[in-house]
Parts: sequence; C-alpha cells; structure tokens
Amino acid sequence: MTVFDSYEREQWRGGTAAFARTFATLCAHPADALLAAAGVAGGTRTLDVGTGTGTVAALAAARGAAVTAVDAAPGMAAAARRSVPAAAVGVGALPALPFRTGTFDAVLANFVLNHVGVPAAAVTELARLTRPGGRVAVTIWPYPQPPLQALLGKAVQAVGVQPVELPRLAAEHDFPRTVAGLTGLLSVAGLTGVTVRRLDWRHRTTVADWWAGLDGGIGAASVLLAGQPAATRDRIRAALERLAEPYRSPAGDCAIPTAALLAAGTVPA
Ligand SMILES: C[S@@+](CC[C@H](N)C(=O)[O-])C[C@H]1O[C@@H](n2cnc3c(N)ncnc32)[C@H](O)[C@@H]1O
Repeated sequence: MTVFDSYEREQWRGGTAAFARTFATLCAHPADALLAAAGVAGGTRTLDVGTGTGTVAALAAARGAAVTAVDAAPGMAAAARRSVPAAAVGVGALPALPFRTGTFDAVLANFVLNHVGVPAAAVTELARLTRPGGRVAVTIWPYPQPPLQALLGKAVQAVGVQPVELPRLAAEHDFPRTVAGLTGLLSVAGLTGVTVRRLDWRHRTTVADWWAGLDGGIGAASVLLAGQPAATRDRIRAALERLAEPYRSPAGDCAIPTAALLAAGTVPA
C-alpha cells in the first residue's frame, strides 16, 4: 500500500454521517449517467466499487440489476448494507478485490479513483473483474477545481491561514484530471472504445451542510480545519459564507457550479 493509500484509508474510516449529509448528495448527481454508460439494466451483474453510503448500488438495484458493492471503509460498507438491502455488500479495497476474473457485466466506481494511490492499477483491477465485452464506468473530479470544490481553499486564503501539506499521489502514478488524462488512464488499462465527457451542473446546498462535510472528518478539509483554533475556524466559516453569497438562490440555499468527468470503456472480447 502506498503512503497515499494509507492516508486515504485513515481519512475514510470515520465521517460516514457527515459524508451522507453533504458529499453523498454531490456524488449522486452523475450516478444515473454512470449506470447508463455501463449499460446497467435488469439482470446486469453489477459491482459498485467504493460504494460509500450506497447511492449507485441503490440506483442499480432499482433498475433490476444483480448488485454487489464494496467499500474500503467498514463504516461505509455498513451504511450501504443498511440502505441497499438487495445488494451483497462487503469490505474491499482497490487495487485488489476478492472476486474472480470476469465475474461482472458492469463495474462502476463513482468518485473513487481520486482516492487511490495507483490509479492505473485500480482501473486494471476494475477491468479484470469485468467479463469480456462488459463495461467499466468511472467518475472523477476534474482539475482545475470547479468553483464548489475551490470554495474552502479560497476561504482559507481569505483569512490568511497556511494550507497544510498533505500526502500526494507519487508523480509517476498521477495523471491529468482532464478528458485526455482520463481517456489515457482507461486506455492504458486495456479498455477499448473509451469515451470521456465532462458533466457541469450547479450543486444545491446550504453553507451549513457544506461546512458539516468539510468539518466532519472527511478528507483534506477536515485535516486542515482540525488543526485550527476555534476562532480561526469561525473566521474560515464566515469567509465561506461571504464567498457563497453570489451563488445564493431565491430559496435561500446556494447553487454552486461544479463538474465531473465521466468515463466508460469496454473490456475486449
Ligand atoms: C467520494 S466517496 C464516493 C462514494 C460513492 N461511490 C458515492 O458515489 O457516493 C469515495 C469512497 O471510496 C472509498 N474508497 C477510498 N479508497 C478506496 C479503495 N482503495 N478501495 C475501495 N474504496 C475506497 C471511500 O471509503 C468512500 O466511501
């Protein structure tokens, strides 16, 4: 396991409730498009990798698919098991999952490749688990960051707090978080007919909900916030409120632009 994997694994150990309140609703946006890209329908043997609280698994089950789901974090797997009783849910981590080669017709990973130390090895594993002619479909967050994802960084900068250095992907394992970069990653893993498209949308949230996710024990944001005195955290939150103001909707919540890259490919027959 790489240093980055160990860091990520630790990050996802807690925070299931905070994730469900905030980031799960954000990650849900491309889920239907992901299932369509993988051709998931009635009877499709489907694996949802990094299922989180089970959003994609639930939608696949609603389409009549035979759903298996795994997550590296036991707390997430437990939450998915509760929310998708029709799915077989277990604990498992990329890049080595406990299934035979070619077990599934469709293998999905919604915003999971951002969290693995060797993305090429992870995609190779997704392809291994898919039968010849089956489909692999994934999403990632693009870089440069869309406005929603950039909001905390701007708030931190606005109050003059020094960003913390977090473990990064080793340069030799990294790839550009762009249409071309993701196309290359899936192609290197041997997938054919790879398509990648960018989805843009406005995520509706309140600053209270967004803050709950940032401050709730998940990811880089929580590491940064956990290291700040209460007064500094209050200033960062106030800056977040100010920066979110231009996105305020008439209903009182915020509609903040964000984006994802959705990629799919076929395992050669
Ligand atoms: C951003 S969340 C996405 C969750 C879910 N796919 C969704 O759309 O709501 C990333 C998930 O990947 C899981 N994860 C992180 N590293 C993983 C790995 N190496 N193998 C499997 N799951 C992993 C985390 O525990 C977390 O549940």
